[in-house]
Amino acid sequence: MLVTMADALSQVFAYHETTKHHLNRYARGPGGLDWATQPDPFRRYVGASVIPLEHLKPSDHPLYEPVFIEGKLPIQPLNHRSISQLFYDSLALSAWKQVGDVRWSLRVNPSSGNLHPTEGYLVCGLVDGLCTQPMVCHYAPKEHVLERRVEFPPETWKAMTAGWPNGTIWVGLASIHWREAWKYGERAFRYCQHDVGHAIATVALAAAAMGWKATLLDDLSTELLASLLGVFDPQGAEPEQPECLLAVYPQRESCAVQTLPEDVIVTFKALSWQGTPNLLSPAHVDWPIIDQAAAATRKPVTQKVYETAMPIGKPLEVRSAPVSFRKMVHQRRSCLALDGQTGMTRDALYQILRKVIPGPDQFPFNALPWSPLIHCGLFIHRVQDVDPGLYFLARDPTKLDPLKDAMKKEFVWEKPPACPDNLELYRLSTGDARELSQQISCHQEIAANGCFSLGMIAEFEGPLRKYGAWFYPRLFWEAGAIGQVLYLEAEACGIRSTGIGCFFDDPMHRVLGLTGWRFQDLYHFTIGGPVEDKRLTTLPAYSSTQNDVKESDQGRFDLP
Ligand SMILES: Cc1cc2nc3c(=O)[nH]c(=O)nc-3n(C[C@H](O)[C@H](O)[C@H](O)COP(=O)(O)O)c2cc1C
Repeated sequence: MLVTMADALSQVFAYHETTKHHLNRYARGPGGLDWATQPDPFRRYVGASVIPLEHLKPSDHPLYEPVFIEGKLPIQPLNHRSISQLFYDSLALSAWKQVGDVRWSLRVNPSSGNLHPTEGYLVCGLVDGLCTQPMVCHYAPKEHVLERRVEFPPETWKAMTAGWPNGTIWVGLASIHWREAWKYGERAFRYCQHDVGHAIATVALAAAAMGWKATLLDDLSTELLASLLGVFDPQGAEPEQPECLLAVYPQRESCAVQTLPEDVIVTFKALSWQGTPNLLSPAHVDWPIIDQAAAATRKPVTQKVYETAMPIGKPLEVRSAPVSFRKMVHQRRSCLALDGQTGMTRDALYQILRKVIPGPDQFPFNALPWSPLIHCGLFIHRVQDVDPGLYFLARDPTKLDPLKDAMKKEFVWEKPPACPDNLELYRLSTGDARELSQQISCHQEIAANGCFSLGMIAEFEGPLRKYGAWFYPRLFWEAGAIGQVLYLEAEACGIRSTGIGCFFDDPMHRVLGLTGWRFQDLYHFTIGGPVEDKRLTTLPAYSSTQNDVKESDQGRFDLP
């Protein structure tokens, strides 16, 4: 069916409106969980040959802070070990949890409801110790292996990589909407996109820890991406929707091109792909509105649509906190409850917020090729020497005036005490915002019991009309990437955080005085002192017999 650009845009607006949660009515969901059809959390390509990856214990180096800035770490060679590390630090399991007989896995990349709709793919040329032919692989996190879907000729690789730096590889991401819709129904398409954003950030940061850089390659169409990743069958009950492709290459290298040749990518479809996707559920429920949203947001081929390749801002100052980056990545968890007591210093608040603002050469936001479009409305509860109340952070200072213009006229817009010059953080109104933030976040106590919670406010209608309906997921990707930085920052501060996908959209708009489609709230977050659930036992992500690597070997690999 032919969907015109205007139809696609109205379908996206309709999807977004329909899937809002309201104070008196939630977006349509399944109304209960049908455990008999619970999707398998692990996609496998049955029959594809398997390439085991190394299991690398999180090492003390690199330190957490330098990872966020380009050019601070030595460039690691591309080989079996570094590819293992890339996936281990981005999409692998991080632990198993157990209560009684029930066991479930956690991953480095968070996911709403722990449903993990995001699948990862590797497209690479010859890699020492990994492969002797260029190939496309699916990453299987449970076993930490690559499933080789197809090999292709070196000439094709050469044609694909013309203009790209030596040592370039590609990481593709795809979503299985059913996995999320099983639990959340119509709103699931949004959650899949948040999860893609989190995964983009985990891949970008894992790459950065090896002196590499990830850039979203956003010229390809959805159809070409499907061809490259071998993700076909859009008609089945469990289709995988190709989402995005990240070029990963050594930092400080510049690319002569920012695209892949269409005529080469299109040929991938005809290759002889190995492996059949496993069936995730024995039966399915249709959510036509999700299929419509997926169809409406399919991307056409575009060429250099974004004028500003790099966001504006000053360079990030590096803190000296001596924590290990990989330990933070692997210990990251969502808090199920917050203690309502732990506070933070205002310096900690400012440092966390500074990290979510894009700056030159700053990971992970340098992976996104558009200028920042997401800002944050904060409910500050417990920050030393900062009055509790409603605050606003403009992630792009050039948008401050339009934001002020769109919000309530009575807001004071005053910088809090000692707020750094390069942080556009403003107090809007003073007062205890705990009850309000809890109510807005679907009455979840975690929003009130932290040091602060926030809502991510997207410039919505303008970018969608400018770029088209295909840009809708990208707004969630940016929000998800911010979420991932908040998760890690909370860990680095010794506290904890949780992404909040369940919030009441329009009530949050009313709090800020926003009307119409110009700005929309896309994602919430909370940070505070966690209450551990003592009923849960934590088990290692992988059994110790799995191809374990000694700590000393690891030090040799990644010590600067
Ligand atoms: C997009 C997104 C939305 C989420 N929404 C909520 C939420 O509304 N309430 C909540 O308690 N947890 C929420 N979570 C936390 C997830 O349930 C959690 O990430 C998942 O169970 C995996 O656990 P982990 O983060 O510890 O790995 C959300 C997470 C993400 C990534």
